[in-house]
Amino acid sequence: MSVVKADLDWSNLPFTYVKTDKNVRYHYKDGSWGAPEICEEDMLSINIAAPALHYGQQGFEGLKAFETRDGRVVCFRPDENAKRMNRTNSRINMPEIPEEIFISAVETVIRENIRFVPPYGTGASLYLRPLMIGVGPKVGLGPADEYIFLVFATPVGPYYKGGFKPVDAVIVEGFDRAAPHGVGDCKVGGNYAAGLPGSKFVKEQGCAVGLYLDPQHNRYIDEFSTSNFIGIKDSSYITPKSPSILPSITNKSLATIAQDMGMLVESRQVEIGEVEGFDEVGAVGTAAVITPVHSIKYGDKILTFGEKDSAGPVLTKLYETLTKIQTGEVEDKHRWLLEIL
Ligand SMILES: Cc1ncc(COP(=O)(O)O)c(C=O)c1O
Repeated sequence: MSVVKADLDWSNLPFTYVKTDKNVRYHYKDGSWGAPEICEEDMLSINIAAPALHYGQQGFEGLKAFETRDGRVVCFRPDENAKRMNRTNSRINMPEIPEEIFISAVETVIRENIRFVPPYGTGASLYLRPLMIGVGPKVGLGPADEYIFLVFATPVGPYYKGGFKPVDAVIVEGFDRAAPHGVGDCKVGGNYAAGLPGSKFVKEQGCAVGLYLDPQHNRYIDEFSTSNFIGIKDSSYITPKSPSILPSITNKSLATIAQDMGMLVESRQVEIGEVEGFDEVGAVGTAAVITPVHSIKYGDKILTFGEKDSAGPVLTKLYETLTKIQTGEVEDKHRWLLEIL
């Protein structure tokens, strides 16, 4: 099927919101989900006493769709996002969204906005944002009686303008993004609001990304503000195991690719002192896939990894393999792609 694409400068898209043609919404009331509503409007009307607004009873997801080299449109591992959203929902007493509804909403939004799926070869993709909010009016603290689950789409370019180039990081001091036994392992908006002063600190330090240590001991690596930490040491792929980090789908996928490459995957506590000996370090997540990290500022120390201007060989291989699976240039042997069209 040939599609007339939207008139956008595909190769120079920023990572920002662009209004697309349609979004899809579901309403939960009296204990069940209603029928999907496909909307052109990108505004929401909700009660001023909605628990999402006052008590932060909300969660979200982020995933991408791609045009492949042979002209198909595919979505990367939406089943994993559905499962993660339900972990979030359960943690903050929101109802389960059945996986079939989640996947169907994602498929509908991609199909309804097919002209916004960036052409193959531009490095851009269609970013999908599922969102669940508690909306029934309630003033006393308690879960909402009604919910909205919606998915919108926006075409995005690479997260960092420079592309797959090393950046400088700093260990965030003075602020934690998550608490022990809190919601650091869930995708709730409050985690990101709590991270905003940390992001300001990172900017003031002249760095691109902030790395958080664990909130209890301030000694083990947790994660970056919007991505997981990976370290490469000889033929090991090392990633922190911590109850206060978001389980990244990109990290899980890269770990599988690393295993396929014959590497040993170590998911364990990573003490900050150990990082000095790593060959390569990366920040991994849906937005940038892998952001190579050239340096980490830790108090008055600066730890460095590899070259300033180019990523190391292992991160490069992992990045190329994953991005090529997403665009159909490398076989999708783990069946991660959901074919939309
Ligand atoms: C705090 C945090 N960690 C990690 C990730 C990476 O997760 P994923 O690879 O599923 O996008 C994200 C992005 O969703 C994030 O916000």
